[in-house]
Amino acid sequence: MATATHADAHALDKAADLGICGIRRHSSDALVAGLVHELSMGELERKYDRIKSDVGAELGSGTCGSVARVRRRDTGEEFAMKVVSMKSMGTSNFETLRMEVQMQKRLDHPNIAKVVEYFSDEENESMFIVMELCTGGSLVDEMERRGRAYDEPEAAALMSKLLSATRYCHEHGVAHRDIKLDNILYESNAPGAEPKLIDFGYACQLTEQSMTSQLGTPSYMAPELWERRAARHYDEKVDLWALGVVDYMLLSGHRPWHHESMNKKRRMIMHDPVAYPETYWGHRSFECKDFINRLLQKDPAARPDAEAALAHRWVKRHARRQPLSPEVEHGQLCDVVDSLEAFANADKLAKIALEVIAFSLPPARLEALRQIFQSMDTDGSGTLSLDEFRKTMALHTDVPPVRIAEIFNEMDLVHHGEIDYTEFLAATIATSDCFADGESSVRVRNAFSMLDSQNKGYIDANDLTTACSGELDENSAIRMVNQSSEGECGRVDYPQFRETLRRAFPVLPLRRTSLSATNAVCEPREAGYHSRYAAATSTPPQKVIGRAKAFLAACTPFKPSSSPGGSGSL
Ligand SMILES: Nc1ncnc2c1ncn2[C@@H]1O[C@H](COP(=O)(O)OP(=O)(O)O)[C@@H](O)[C@H]1O
Ligand SMILES: [Mg+2]
Repeated sequence: MATATHADAHALDKAADLGICGIRRHSSDALVAGLVHELSMGELERKYDRIKSDVGAELGSGTCGSVARVRRRDTGEEFAMKVVSMKSMGTSNFETLRMEVQMQKRLDHPNIAKVVEYFSDEENESMFIVMELCTGGSLVDEMERRGRAYDEPEAAALMSKLLSATRYCHEHGVAHRDIKLDNILYESNAPGAEPKLIDFGYACQLTEQSMTSQLGTPSYMAPELWERRAARHYDEKVDLWALGVVDYMLLSGHRPWHHESMNKKRRMIMHDPVAYPETYWGHRSFECKDFINRLLQKDPAARPDAEAALAHRWVKRHARRQPLSPEVEHGQLCDVVDSLEAFANADKLAKIALEVIAFSLPPARLEALRQIFQSMDTDGSGTLSLDEFRKTMALHTDVPPVRIAEIFNEMDLVHHGEIDYTEFLAATIATSDCFADGESSVRVRNAFSMLDSQNKGYIDANDLTTACSGELDENSAIRMVNQSSEGECGRVDYPQFRETLRRAFPVLPLRRTSLSATNAVCEPREAGYHSRYAAATSTPPQKVIGRAKAFLAACTPFKPSSSPGGSGSL
């Protein structure tokens, strides 16, 4: 499918993003969108090392580019770096290249791979996207490893998370358009590791107009995508179809329709009913087939949206989280309440700083908090409403209802009326002992640098409005800065920033150990940090650019593939 024609049409769909058609109304951007900066190539080498060993350095490659494992020099943390080029995306416009990353960076969901920052190299027509590293392999790898299909509770639990991620995308105005086993990775090899949706290379901003370009991976493409050009109009329901195919494959190890001839395959997808051969499906429940039948309805209007699919009884019955014992749940929430109280009482600037720190923490450290977030998010929307927050808090704590509403408002930094994932994390790591050594903490320093995106050496009101994706008005931003700066000069320098954080979050002794893993967020890595930082910044600029080009060369061994998005192997 990845012909030039499709790539051109793809660019046209993306043109909607550039303002050619009205962007469809959607939920507000997550606050983290303003934290993901576009940086220059000179910064790339200053910040990252490519991991050089032959084994494991190259994570994968597909239609859009290659993905390599890199290490951040100051913290030592590893990330995945995807290199996309204008050529691989079939476009002659650099803006089209920005679309993938700009759409993905607005998404803040535990089951979507998080973009951390990106580097643009217009001269070489390439973009380097740094994102969280998933080391557990894709669902294709997992099926090969097992050599058998998933059982129903496992598949339903996975579908529930993927539907939640998809619902979140759609509610934030993004259609993925290439959901498949290859584009879902496990965060790690640990049992029960979190699945993550990746690869927004074909994603599209939803607009008032329907999409028309024919793209995707053939086995996962909905019937409306196979219509002839003049009759081809579709919407985000194509993602629900693709999830139906994913579920069918997880439970049987086979594609619902397959033929070597593309024409025959097209006819089968468009007209043949879903078949459930006895050999693979004899022992499966009526409910799971009913769920698949609904997602694989030929008529997109009859197909459920992600919210309705999440409410299907097969998903709800099997995906219910293993309940924690009431004591553990109560204990965890007591720890969280300590954090919430400290957060609610903190200065706004300290809150934003904590959000930045939460954003940059490796997801694996946040396992306990992620589980709490997911259990509170009962409707799977990927955000918390006041109602959801109130219900869990009322069940397990003695915080008065009025205070619950106040805390909720304090967590909702830009007043969307809902709590995004990173907002929740920020509020719940508030009493973390990472601030015990806040003086020299790499994370506090990095949070400062992320807010001071132009390296001015101070944070001003403009930095804060940018960090809040324009959702913070200028006067409030000025007030926030003046609260922390001496003499209301409109600037907060690093010592003042550090002091604001220290004042807001004095280290509290943990009442229980349940969150101790979460709280160990800042290793004593700072020894030598300043000298390393100074060495990195003192490299002459020309040298940096020269080496960045070498970095680019080392990272772009593209392997053009004939099918979009890689193997599509099953
Ligand atoms: N965040 C990540 N962590 C680990 N591996 C990744 C990550 N993102 C991509 N990969 C690997 O790189 C491959 C290609 O990346 P993807 O974004 O799917 O690009 P393409 O559009 O070329 O298919 C994936 O199939 C996967 O193996
Ligand atoms: Mg892919």
